[in-house]
Amino acid sequence: MPRNTAAYIDLNALRANYRTACERAGDARVMAVVKADGYGHGIARIASALADMAPKYAVACIEEAFAIRAAGHAQPVVLLQGVHAAEDLADCAKSQFEPVLHGEHQLQWLEQSGQLPAFWLKVNTGMNRLGFRSEELSEVMARLEKMPAFHGLQGFVSHFACADDAGSAMTSVQTANFEAATLPWPSLMRSVGNSAAHFIPGQPLFDWSRPGVMLYGGSPIVGKTGPELGLEPVMTLEAPLITTRTVRAGESVGYGAAWVAERDTLMGMVAIGYGDGYPRHAGTGTPAAIGGRRIRLIGRVSMDMLAVDLSNVPEAREGDLVELWGRTVGVDEVASCAGTISYELLTGITSRVPRICR
Ligand SMILES: Cc1ncc(COP(=O)(O)O)c(C=O)c1O
Repeated sequence: MPRNTAAYIDLNALRANYRTACERAGDARVMAVVKADGYGHGIARIASALADMAPKYAVACIEEAFAIRAAGHAQPVVLLQGVHAAEDLADCAKSQFEPVLHGEHQLQWLEQSGQLPAFWLKVNTGMNRLGFRSEELSEVMARLEKMPAFHGLQGFVSHFACADDAGSAMTSVQTANFEAATLPWPSLMRSVGNSAAHFIPGQPLFDWSRPGVMLYGGSPIVGKTGPELGLEPVMTLEAPLITTRTVRAGESVGYGAAWVAERDTLMGMVAIGYGDGYPRHAGTGTPAAIGGRRIRLIGRVSMDMLAVDLSNVPEAREGDLVELWGRTVGVDEVASCAGTISYELLTGITSRVPRICR
């Protein structure tokens, strides 16, 4: 009998969040970002659940695009990191994968390959990770126009560095930079908006938006939770209590004796730990829940278990399920207690935890 630790996936919530993205995207079409195994939810199941809604998917790399094809879906798949080898261009052309070409070496591969995939160009408007600088764009386009592959060019992509911070001026600077750089080619498409951009009043999303974390109910905006933004949690992470005991005043619990009881305290051990992807940095006070009632973690998270204070739920017994995050405790709340973001928690759940749709 396996332990009852699982990540339950609510596909109706996913679809509702996709609809929210579409409503917020206005005239832009919405490609569903399903990289990193569908942000930890399972790329095949996420792609399948959105198949009748999403006209395009976006992933980081070609193996993720093949996973979508293996799940039986024919929509074009944008490869946000482009291709990692010249020969991948043939697969792109054959399989309707649309690489975002971001560097000189990739242009050379395109020039030399004779393959004619649909593709995008990445414009570096200030993130400074990937892409051609705006001032290089005319030269790059002049080169491309001489290549037979030019006809595959769909348009331009850029990515925001600070869209999660409502107070940052950088997003409007990047947007202006992007608009100016791409102005000479009005017939080509443009895509710039991640999840956060859907929540910035007046932010243009151009032809295609690219939401990721918001589809899964995670907040893309600093200081706000997903539900506060009208998003529904998709993953509920649950694990059973495997023991309960009273820790006496003065006794400690777990590694490093990091938590010491001030008074006799009813404590439970939960069958989940950092070996499952639950963050070790979530310390005493991080919320969890039993039956919709909030409890708190105490002490250090171990590899396979963690301790909770059951003072709030004294009737709790072995086998009762503890929600680590979900509808009662938001993944954003846990992330903030662990000094990280929901993206890292969702994508970090390990393969030991079965994903179950319900
Ligand atoms: C290029 C690009 N576009 C879109 C996204 C989706 O971002 P988010 O999950 O913040 O919506 C990502 C995610 O990292 C990305 O790298």
